[in-house]
Amino acid sequence: MIYHNAESNEFHLQTEKCSYIIKVSESGHLINLHFGNKVAHRANFNGLDQRFNVKLGSTTNYAPEHGCLTLETLKLEAPCYGKGDYREPALHISYPDGSRTSDFIYKSYLVHDQKPNLDGLPHSHSPDSSNSDVALTIVLIEPVKQLELHLHYSVFEKTNVISRSAELINNSKELVNVDRALSVCIDFSDANFDVIHLEGKWTREAHIARQAIHKGVFQIDSKKGVSGANHNPFLALARPNCEESSGECYGFGLVYSGNHQCSVEVSPYDFTRIMIGINPFDFCWPLDSGEKLSLPEVLMTYSNQGLNGMSQQFHQLVQNHLIAAQWNNYPRPIQVNNWEATYFDFNSNKLMAIAKQAKALGIEMFVLDDGWFGHRDSENSSLGDFFDHQKKLPGGVARISKKVKALGLQFGLWVEPEMISIDSELYKAHPEWAVQLPDRSPSLGREQLVLDMANPKVIEHLFTELSDLFSRASVDYIKWDHNRNFSDIYSNYLSRQQQGGFAHRYTLGLYQLLMRLTEAFPDILFESCSSGGNRFDLGMLCYMPQTWTSDNTDALERMRIQYGTSLLYPPSTMSAHVSGRPSHQVLRNTSIENRFNVAAFGNLGYQLDITKLTKFEVKAVKAQIIFYKKHRQLLQYGRFYRLQSPFEHNQMLWIMVSQDCSEAILGYYQQQQESNGNLETPRLTMLKADSEYHIEGRPQYINIRTFGDLVNEQLPVSIKDRGVLHGIIANNYMHKVSPEAYQLYGDQLAAFGLPLKVQFVGTEMTEQVRYIGDVGSRLYHISEKHT
Ligand code: DGJ
Repeated sequence: MIYHNAESNEFHLQTEKCSYIIKVSESGHLINLHFGNKVAHRANFNGLDQRFNVKLGSTTNYAPEHGCLTLETLKLEAPCYGKGDYREPALHISYPDGSRTSDFIYKSYLVHDQKPNLDGLPHSHSPDSSNSDVALTIVLIEPVKQLELHLHYSVFEKTNVISRSAELINNSKELVNVDRALSVCIDFSDANFDVIHLEGKWTREAHIARQAIHKGVFQIDSKKGVSGANHNPFLALARPNCEESSGECYGFGLVYSGNHQCSVEVSPYDFTRIMIGINPFDFCWPLDSGEKLSLPEVLMTYSNQGLNGMSQQFHQLVQNHLIAAQWNNYPRPIQVNNWEATYFDFNSNKLMAIAKQAKALGIEMFVLDDGWFGHRDSENSSLGDFFDHQKKLPGGVARISKKVKALGLQFGLWVEPEMISIDSELYKAHPEWAVQLPDRSPSLGREQLVLDMANPKVIEHLFTELSDLFSRASVDYIKWDHNRNFSDIYSNYLSRQQQGGFAHRYTLGLYQLLMRLTEAFPDILFESCSSGGNRFDLGMLCYMPQTWTSDNTDALERMRIQYGTSLLYPPSTMSAHVSGRPSHQVLRNTSIENRFNVAAFGNLGYQLDITKLTKFEVKAVKAQIIFYKKHRQLLQYGRFYRLQSPFEHNQMLWIMVSQDCSEAILGYYQQQQESNGNLETPRLTMLKADSEYHIEGRPQYINIRTFGDLVNEQLPVSIKDRGVLHGIIANNYMHKVSPEAYQLYGDQLAAFGLPLKVQFVGTEMTEQVRYIGDVGSRLYHISEKHT
């Protein structure tokens, strides 16, 4: 709902569970009265407009007619520098006369029954309101300099999300320079918060970091040209007592894939200011008379049901209102990807052997990764060239695609369109399309340069090349990679004044290309990738409904990465593969069952040489795929709860619950086997209290090598540890872990918990014992019993 109290000039944006109330102050500034728990709508909210109302020492009074009013203690929605607010501003603009003071004042408002479009930027669509008023635009004006700021708010009533984006319009006759334009500013009148964010790096993305906020500025950002794995464009503010399932928190996610900045500032008066948007660092945007600058959307949500409440609201928003509608609830295919199986070293025979084995295992899609084009046999060449590597693949991608499809598999292909190798035909023809400085030799990342996506000719060229490729290879899926960050930033296409906006112009060029391609090829399932999760953001998800979560597929590392990623992104956006052993990223050996148990909470794939699986592994993988297909809808689109964090505990738990709570899959994971451990009783509070549930462990197999010379305790026959017979049995015999089945009512699972069997304590291994081990895991299927 969107309410307007005309007399007090207040706007109340109300969802099912939260209220966002803003008003126009007596000075004309737009101020925030309340963001948080839902309050009933009232004729006015004067009582919430808490002020100091007293002369404060060492402050600047805004204007004589407003007495002691100082902007420093107002909760401003669009703060600028220059009129007495000394916190970080959202907007900073340089004018032709050299001045830099701005002051945006309320002008008018407009309520919409459709969400307004945001020029050139991805954004959420179609709010789920029961009411026809879904969006509000508040127009602010800079009366001296003739600029307008349009603040767009949308209300996702059922999802409990409010979005905000903005447009800055130059109505003056002269060019101004925008040095800083953040999308969102929200001020809270206290500082009793922890800040939570996702930090990381290559193969270690999305680790949850949490700390109390203090006076001064806390900031995360990206200067890499992409949103980056170092800091996801996301922040949460949580009350110190907020946990996964209880307490208050606020989440803010930026729908943008370029350089971002997210900051939390605690003022001398303990006001907390949160701001998110395009990184002002290395940003300067000349805005000519009549021009408009659109600022990316921010999704904001409030939860009084802990971090899970926040995440679930984001997950629903992403699924129902951010990704293209046709991919929501679409069963994401199980794929095999040849990258870690072959790297660059493959030929048609090898690929077809993998594809045939994939078919036999029940896999649904074959994805041909890097190395199929130009003369690309290593990282050193051919990016930019889209012609087939005929030597490696006679008949090219068209022939391989046809053969793969003849097996009854879908065909997917890897591309890295935003890049150029110096050793490429494209570079010979268009060196000026590479991002590099005219007077310096460029620094390389993964031996390659970035293409100038700010140049419309590059966009046109890529659209033509990719359209041709997608058609000739008849692709069902594209993995869109991006493997280096920016350096030597300079565009041959842009004017001197425009160079400062290169990173943003690059992002706009990318979005334009993605918009055109996804419109031209609506049936292709796109997956975004950037050396793993270096560009896992809400902006890319608007075009590509899934992302390669990390290059790290080690089961233990992935537990942490997927747990952290789920703070903002639903499992259906995370691609998760079972890879080889040992892990190529950390050289850790984990069992194929545990690798699957982690990957099952995402879009499942296999990325290892499946032609070399042992018989044991073949049988295990077949069973995994049958299980995944049977429960795919639940695993990809259920309601996801984090139960116990791997960042705080030895055991990690999460659960996927069907919307009607009749079914669930619990994932139980352990980092290290503990010696002589205790009983464990995880509480499951999300099921139906009165229903009886049957809980059964997924039949899982264990390689008898695990038991070393204790093997004879497990087998009916006596064999020698590491003897020939031991090897033969290990590769063929499927030793089942002890079966587990429990029967409890929903209220018991909530109040008492799930009474798991004790883990191995070093004495005996009977039916009553669970052996989980190091990096071990179990999946439990939970189903409501029908009487
Ligand atoms: C980086 C990706 O993250 C990998 O999965 C793989 O596609 C390689 N690039 C290929 O070069």
